[in-house]
Amino acid sequence: MKLADLDILMPTVGVLVDSLYPRGAEKLLARLEDALNGYAVAHVAEVSDFGPVALASETLKGCSRVKLSTFWVHRRFRGLGIGGSLLDRRIEDWYLADRDHAIVTVREDRAAELERLFVPRGFSRIAVDLNRYGEGRSEVVLKWVNVGALSLTSRRAA
Ligand SMILES: CC(C)(COP(=O)(O)OP(=O)(O)OC[C@H]1O[C@@H](n2cnc3c(N)ncnc32)[C@H](O)[C@@H]1OP(=O)(O)O)[C@@H](O)C(=O)NCCC(=O)NCCS
Repeated sequence: MKLADLDILMPTVGVLVDSLYPRGAEKLLARLEDALNGYAVAHVAEVSDFGPVALASETLKGCSRVKLSTFWVHRRFRGLGIGGSLLDRRIEDWYLADRDHAIVTVREDRAAELERLFVPRGFSRIAVDLNRYGEGRSEVVLKWVNVGALSLTSRRAA
């Protein structure tokens, strides 16, 4: 991701997260600035003549746990495989970096949309955080576990 991408991301995904979460746009902007400064990770997919049309914004908890804070594809470019390839690339990177697990949370009323993409790629629903952001605004928690890292840990323990 580069600095100029903010001009396209904030009026698109920024507006969406602001409608979903308290101070959503402000927090997203802070995470993207952190990524530009090397303190967080943000990957975009780009379409030429348009710019960034998809975003995966993540933070590292400790050195082995990933929190995927925002995963989004621009409405005009959905259903073309962009979300699938972006997530495949993220998972490949987590494997290579030997991350332990990754978590993503999503509003319950939008969960089916994300699960269609995430579940076939190894994520599973592990919890529902009831009324997390107010009455009727529950969050579904999806988790991906690095099976390779797990077997390495158990081999070390044996
Ligand atoms: C969920 C989302 C990321 C999917 O992105 P996308 O680029 O459209 O996804 P893809 O085109 O790669 O399709 C994903 C999967 O769903 C399937 N799919 C796509 N459209 C479908 C439809 N209408 N019905 C059933 N399956 C469908 C595809 O076959 C694909 O499966 P595959 O990868 O196994 O082939 C996108 O819809 C989105 O950004 N939604 C909003 C998410 C959000 O609210 N983010 C902000 C808070 S974190």
